[in-house]
Amino acid sequence: MCGIIGYIGKRQIIPVLLEGLRRLEYRGYDSAGIVFLEKNKIKVIKTKGRIFNLEEKIFKKPPLEAKAPGLGHTRWATHGEPSDENAHPHMDCKEELSLVHNGIIENYYELKQKLLKKGHRFCSATDTEVIVHLVEDYLNEGLNIKEAFFRTLKDLKGSFAIALIYKKHPEFILVARNQSPVVLGVGEEENFVASDIPALLPFTKKVVFLNDGEVAILYKDKIEVYDSKKNKIEKEPVLISWDLASAEKGGYAHFMLKEICEQPEAIKHTLLGRINLDNKEIDFSKEGLVKEFLEDVQKVFIVACGTSYHAGLVAKYLIERHLEIPVEVDLASEFRYRNPLINSKTLFIGVSQSGETADTLASLRLAKEKGAKILSICNVLGSTIARESGVVLYTQAGPEISVASTKAFTTQVLVFILLAFYLKKMLYGKDEDKEKVDALIKISNQLDNFIEKIRPKIKEISEKWHNISNCLYLGRNILFPIALEGALKLKEIAYIHAEGYAAGEMKHGPIALIEENVPSIILAAKETGIVYEKTLSNAEEVKSRRGPIISIISENSEEFKKISYDYIEVPLTFYEFLPIFYVVPLQLLAYEIAALRGCDIDKPRNLAKSVTVE
Ligand code: M6R
Repeated sequence: MCGIIGYIGKRQIIPVLLEGLRRLEYRGYDSAGIVFLEKNKIKVIKTKGRIFNLEEKIFKKPPLEAKAPGLGHTRWATHGEPSDENAHPHMDCKEELSLVHNGIIENYYELKQKLLKKGHRFCSATDTEVIVHLVEDYLNEGLNIKEAFFRTLKDLKGSFAIALIYKKHPEFILVARNQSPVVLGVGEEENFVASDIPALLPFTKKVVFLNDGEVAILYKDKIEVYDSKKNKIEKEPVLISWDLASAEKGGYAHFMLKEICEQPEAIKHTLLGRINLDNKEIDFSKEGLVKEFLEDVQKVFIVACGTSYHAGLVAKYLIERHLEIPVEVDLASEFRYRNPLINSKTLFIGVSQSGETADTLASLRLAKEKGAKILSICNVLGSTIARESGVVLYTQAGPEISVASTKAFTTQVLVFILLAFYLKKMLYGKDEDKEKVDALIKISNQLDNFIEKIRPKIKEISEKWHNISNCLYLGRNILFPIALEGALKLKEIAYIHAEGYAAGEMKHGPIALIEENVPSIILAAKETGIVYEKTLSNAEEVKSRRGPIISIISENSEEFKKISYDYIEVPLTFYEFLPIFYVVPLQLLAYEIAALRGCDIDKPRNLAKSVTVE
């Protein structure tokens, strides 16, 4: 969702802001803008559309003397349509203050009415604009800028990451956070603020994370942080291990393709340090996952959204197969508004690539309040979900820039596989998975070869099928969540209506959709035993209604090959690893089809990478 970049220091301000904004593009946006100082005046340039539209506007009439501090923003519309007026930054009536915001101000309407009565003039339909007028209002009352800022924050209800500059105090940028991500970048005689780490990587790897309720004042040579009661607090910067190259396309046409191909590497990194290569033992104890944390757990809730939710569904099969603990998997947006039965013997597992998804975070807080133990599986170091968890297991996938999640999913599944084996040993002393752990160590190379092998065939299949309007994805057991994930990928990046179904459910309704131009992508693995045979019967039922079948199947599944229009063969593996191998062809298929349809693959319409509002 919205992206923020801010800078104070000696660099040329416009290139820094544009570079930062480009690196936030993946979050999803529909307008963009910047603000800086020009001849001691606030200068805002903003536009509906993409960053190149903003660049065009800037360079049509290049500013003569652009100076820091400055702010940049990419807006994902919530209140008010995407337009030049609604784009951020926003200014006060006197054009002395300028502000960017990520989040939603829930009480904006009543605040706006009050401000209008006092004579403030609004230029946009946004909730954001009330913030800058409120600050102005408190300045009018005689407060100094810092007091006015703190006072304004008290009036706001909702979620926000805010950065504000004031022309009378160009020596600092004011920053505040409540339920929307914000990270500060620490440099030499320069400092930054951004909504996400990739925007900072070209400039610094030293970062400071703000917690909810905290305020930061960024000077060029220091950063002051205050808690909500205005007490000054000390924050130690953290060093980010991601490098700049990992946030760049590196010769690939799209981030999504790069990230699909990076999966073997991401798997390697996620395994690193967690498996003892001599005795094949898995160890999460250094990350805080010790017996005392889990001993009396009687129930597990896994809660997430989108692709991370699908990883959670996979985990249910893994955990219930290896541990005698019941597992419920919930969509975070549902979980948070029902009455889940939680107590101190509940383990809540939040799964999130970004670690900032609003619904997942709210669910985590709800579970915490009810006394559950909180474990999270996150990709982004220092993200809110990670920080609010009792234990966090990081997927070491590196930055995932494409809106469509790929390597985050495979590494989430991998962490769940490790977790199931680890807990089995820890809780029941059962040490029977060494052969599988050994195979896990080799899985990265196997996956690499598999990707290379299937790419031409996937391209061929995509050429034939990219014009379809509807598609079914069918799987059973541990491959059912993969069917859901395949359908989600096709929907979100190729804009094709796709439904994921448990193949056994076909007879209960969806089989009515089968026709000659509605392909069914059927997933079947011999490793699932009897379920493989059952899936074959479901496939026959599709075939006998003239539904074309594209199958993703175990090697030498002759029965399937006979009834399939096209097929991809997957090498035989262990049951637990099936999701990792079966999801990759579906990711590639969605990618190739979207490319042939000319879709904006890395930034699909209407979507945002990090969904920080509910
Ligand atoms: O950052 P999170 O894993 O919490 O994000 C959850 C979903 O928003 C995300 O997986 C989304 O569904 C992706 N666009 C799917 O590709």
